Amino acid sequence: MLSQDELKAMVGQAALQYVVPGEVVGVGTGSTVNQFIAALASMKDRIPGAVSSSKASSERLQAVGIRVFDCNEVGQLAVYVDGADEIDAHGCMIKGGGAALTREKIVAAQSERFVCIADESKLVRTLGAFPIPVEVIPMAAQRIMRQFAAIGGKAVLRLRAGQPLVTDNGQILLDVSGLQITDPLGFESMVNQWAGVVTVGVFARNRADLCLLGTRDGVRILHCA
Ligand code: 5RP
Repeated sequence: MLSQDELKAMVGQAALQYVVPGEVVGVGTGSTVNQFIAALASMKDRIPGAVSSSKASSERLQAVGIRVFDCNEVGQLAVYVDGADEIDAHGCMIKGGGAALTREKIVAAQSERFVCIADESKLVRTLGAFPIPVEVIPMAAQRIMRQFAAIGGKAVLRLRAGQPLVTDNGQILLDVSGLQITDPLGFESMVNQWAGVVTVGVFARNRADLCLLGTRDGVRILHCA
């Protein structure tokens, strides 16, 4: 039986076929994307480089010899490859388990096509079992936690080594459990409007166009409606 790491390696490799030679590629963050970066090294002479969604991915890309561009140095990207914490059949996702949600949404918004890579455990009927990451401005944290409580959610501050985790953007993260996201676009739009929210980790506006799911029987391609 294939391990989860093997499933991730399989989809990381499969995503290479969506990379457009001659074009800068958008690269996400996480353990599945790390496998994609390892595979992308084999194509490094056929692409000018990558735009990355985190400092961690930038370091990995540079370590394998791939040039990293700032978003502002390039125009629209042909493709963005990233993982997900949950994905539904429509390509809506929960993202941000790796704390990179804001830059992920920025690079996704600059890309024509979002190719999600994930093992099959990430496919869900309804988003929400995975706590929703929300990047916030620290002075707004307690009020935003109360706003989530008012709609039935429980928000906790994400910690690392006992201290509030600080994102690549210098902000903090809440993880919100207890919500079933039956209307991802409506939920994303609502939370985006709360003062002090930087990014909510529901990706509906910038959903995946297709998802490469690693299964024991091989890569399953989910064309998201
Ligand atoms: C990082 C993310 C990742 O895409 C998500 O957490 C999935 O990660 P992994 O591939 O390690 O399961 O959103 O912010």
